Amino acid sequence: VERQDGRPFRQRLLVVANRLPVSAVRRGEDSWSLEISAGGLVTALLGVKEFEAKWIGWAGVNVPDEIGQRALTKALAEKRCIPVFLDEEIVHQYYNGYCNNILWPLFHYLGLPQEDRLATTRSFQSQFAAYKKANQMFADVVNKHYVEGDVVWCHDYHLMFLPKCLKEYNSNMKVGWFLHTPFPSSEIHRTLPSRSELLRSVLAADLVGFHTYDYARHFVSACTRILGLEGTPEGVEDQGRLTRVAAFPIGIDADRFIRALETHPVQEHIKELKERFAGRKVMLGVDRLDMIKGIPQKILAFEKFLEENPDWHDKVVLLQIAVPTRTDVPEYQKLTSQVHEIVGRINGRFGTLTAVPIHHLDRSLDFYKLCALYAVTDVALVTSLRDGMNLVSYEFVACQDAKKGVLILSEFAGAAQSLGAGAILVNPWNIIEVAASIAQALNMQPDEREKRHRHNFLHVTTHTAQEWAETFVSELNDTVVEAQLRTRQ
Ligand code: ADP
Ligand code: G6P
Repeated sequence: VERQDGRPFRQRLLVVANRLPVSAVRRGEDSWSLEISAGGLVTALLGVKEFEAKWIGWAGVNVPDEIGQRALTKALAEKRCIPVFLDEEIVHQYYNGYCNNILWPLFHYLGLPQEDRLATTRSFQSQFAAYKKANQMFADVVNKHYVEGDVVWCHDYHLMFLPKCLKEYNSNMKVGWFLHTPFPSSEIHRTLPSRSELLRSVLAADLVGFHTYDYARHFVSACTRILGLEGTPEGVEDQGRLTRVAAFPIGIDADRFIRALETHPVQEHIKELKERFAGRKVMLGVDRLDMIKGIPQKILAFEKFLEENPDWHDKVVLLQIAVPTRTDVPEYQKLTSQVHEIVGRINGRFGTLTAVPIHHLDRSLDFYKLCALYAVTDVALVTSLRDGMNLVSYEFVACQDAKKGVLILSEFAGAAQSLGAGAILVNPWNIIEVAASIAQALNMQPDEREKRHRHNFLHVTTHTAQEWAETFVSELNDTVVEAQLRTRQ
């Protein structure tokens, strides 16, 4: 479709995700301030610009009163965001419970909660009921704002029930669903008590997308083995209706990072960091403080490296920036204490009166400070035990065109498939191997660093978030047209 000036109409898009790109903080009865939310999903979607997009999601805060809800709705509207209000009990059972204590660990191969993490079977069922209820609340808001022709793009494991709810409202709605985490082997998925119901609801979408071909393949085998449906090269077929399933590897808005490096605040931060760590090589970890990120494994590997390389003791520092996340879930609380304990022990063991080997910060850094850190880093360490993609590795590469630092990357991150040729790939469970990779990275010669960096930089700057979204949305439009043609035949 074209406008009179020859340019295509911008596709109207309703982006539905549990978390809005901004989180709200209450400042008064009817006043709110909005802060950018952390996480890969938000980072990627903020890089998507060429659409007439509106966001529907939760603002990360409980707003029980009408005055507050009205004021927040207004403040969010300026950011093209539409809130879904979830009360405390729903957040507890749906977000902390079913999403982050059940689906998230399961999809990352950490298994279902044992008795101690999940009191009774009844509580599993009530969490699933809350999950469905929350998904229905998202569907109600989408339905209210939907205009014919809109593409509705649902995101992530929080909203697996949403495609079904939306199609029940309107079977002509164009619905896509994209998973930002791994989809596990069907042998793992089949342990989930609500396995079939969730698969069937996702299949109500027209197009289902994953970061890698492997995740898409796992999803199709779950549908064939668990639901007994037919898997085809195109997707999954159920009584003549096809749900298209494919891989759409995500990217970042690399130019935003490259441009930021030239700005005054980033240059100032770079200068400060260089002075602060003069004479030492800088290693960097940037993660949400999540068990899937392998933070204890990373720090233990660094300890092993120090143990085996006394010459490096005062010549290297590890900066681990870990933003707290999902802090109401007990597993995350345990992880925080575990990480603090290990860092304290290692700093006690290898620190001197003037320097410690690990600087661990439990906090989020603003964009400019983050860019500066990426730029001064010699070696970045990404040791995820499993990770849908891992955009931190992309951001690091985008900021390294001057320095050409080395990326050590877990083979269990989706990014290993795209940045594998430039990075040193490791199995994060193998502490000895990671320690050896740290030595290899710190001693790597400039020509090899240059060669590896070139490969990764080319990938990160050409496979952007914008391109990812355009490909997904155009494939969704094509899928719907093809389905209409098929039913007419
Ligand atoms: P995930 O989606 O699991 O959070 P990703 O690596 O894909 O993992 O994305 C994480 C995003 O959150 C990145 O954009 C990264 O810059 C941001 N982020 C993570 N930790 C921090 C931090 N401590 N401070 C600022 N931003 C962070
Ligand atoms: C991952 C998930 C996102 C989520 C983000 C932050 O990237 O795929 O859906 O938004 O983590 O987690 P949170 O629970 O704070 O939204």
